[in-house]
Amino acid sequence: MTSLGNEGRDGFSSRFGIICAAAGSAIGLGNIWRFPYIAGESGGGAFLLIYLGFILMLGIPVMLSEFVIGRRGQRNALGSFKRLAPGKPWYFVGVMGIIAAFMILAFYSTIAGWTLEYIVKAISNSFAGKSSGEIEQMFNAFHTQAFRPILWQLIFMFMTVWIIMSGVRQGIERYAKILMPFLVLLLIIMAIRSITLPGAVEGLSFLFKPDFSAVDSSVLLAALGQAFFSLSIGMGTLITYGSYIQKKNKLGNLAIEVSMADTLIAILAGVAIFPAVFAFGVDPAGGPGLIFNVLPGIFQQMPGGYFFAIIFFVLLSIAALTSSISILEVVVAYMTEELKMSRRKATIMSALAATFVGLFCTLSFGPLKGLTITGLSIFDLLDYTASNLLLPLGGLMIVLFVGWYMKDADFKDELSNKGLLKVRIFGVLMFLLKFIAPVAIALILLNSLGFIGPVDGGTEHSN
Ligand code: PHE
Repeated sequence: MTSLGNEGRDGFSSRFGIICAAAGSAIGLGNIWRFPYIAGESGGGAFLLIYLGFILMLGIPVMLSEFVIGRRGQRNALGSFKRLAPGKPWYFVGVMGIIAAFMILAFYSTIAGWTLEYIVKAISNSFAGKSSGEIEQMFNAFHTQAFRPILWQLIFMFMTVWIIMSGVRQGIERYAKILMPFLVLLLIIMAIRSITLPGAVEGLSFLFKPDFSAVDSSVLLAALGQAFFSLSIGMGTLITYGSYIQKKNKLGNLAIEVSMADTLIAILAGVAIFPAVFAFGVDPAGGPGLIFNVLPGIFQQMPGGYFFAIIFFVLLSIAALTSSISILEVVVAYMTEELKMSRRKATIMSALAATFVGLFCTLSFGPLKGLTITGLSIFDLLDYTASNLLLPLGGLMIVLFVGWYMKDADFKDELSNKGLLKVRIFGVLMFLLKFIAPVAIALILLNSLGFIGPVDGGTEHSN
């Protein structure tokens, strides 16, 4: 059954459903897989502080802007701009978002595939009795193959397609709202185990003791990219979801709640992982394999670890699914609304295209490892381009649109639900949107591209 939604469109039916769907999009591999490995490569504590600052000053304003654009525009990421700025090229932000969506889905499904493999490894008790060296070997033996990682990637994409085809409300909402609280609980238990391991203190000080001497432009860009990736902002995911939000819901509260939940889970993942990284002697800057090399060791040190491992990887896969559907939905909403395609056809076609690119991402850890472009593997190149360049660029355009193109009164009208709600700190928000956010994002982008300040190569070279 479809809820009334807005303008007769399919939409989220309850406040709880929206929170779960938006949080389901934000919370995913970005928090548990990507955050620890990027933090590890970027030196830990200082990265964390900068990341938190970016969430607060840039992330929340961009997220709110996306909700406003989507709910006011009542269309997909591209169509909303066309409607709010007819005849103007702003819709190009939506085009960029769709490109970013393809790129992200391609490499996201590689990692999601790995988590599926780890469910099977957990069930078959493959971690039992292994030293951390053997656990690393096991991961290497798996992820450098061609066949198995691709098989899992295909299975993951198949699940994503299946959920998207069943429609917005029944699909996204139903799957998003059930299991995430369990994931949080499990992470808390794992964090407790991790910080009580011998040698854990070093990991905690790595994560929480900032050392600003190691901060350079690549760390700033990595923190910016991670903030945007983790919050699902900068490419129109939340414009699309915003268009499904009912007129009576409060966008401001939603943006704050989702950002806070997302950030807490990333920190929790960091607390679960870094103490163990140091206790087991794993390299914190070891790249995308970090959690796969560390988590099995934590489970081994836990009573009931066999079951915890299975449940954890199942929940992580579900978290990945509620994010991947939100990425695919950007493309599908565009194709159905703007190109008038059936939902079924749009879903299958876009998923096939993303999967095709995704195969190269998966193979770039094995058979195609030697293939690099500007020193980056295909996987790193897509991740770097999408997360560190396209998302911040999209975010920049989004705050410029809301801050300078849209009338302040219209923005306020949408935020306040036509004047029904009191909008607090509107002045501060406008100041962030008009000045702080655009200037900060532009400076970081220009700086890391070498237009101002020293050039350096980014942080994501390892795998
Ligand atoms: N935020 C998601 C995660 O943390 C990934 C994502 C990025 C989803 C961009 C949508 C858009 O896993």
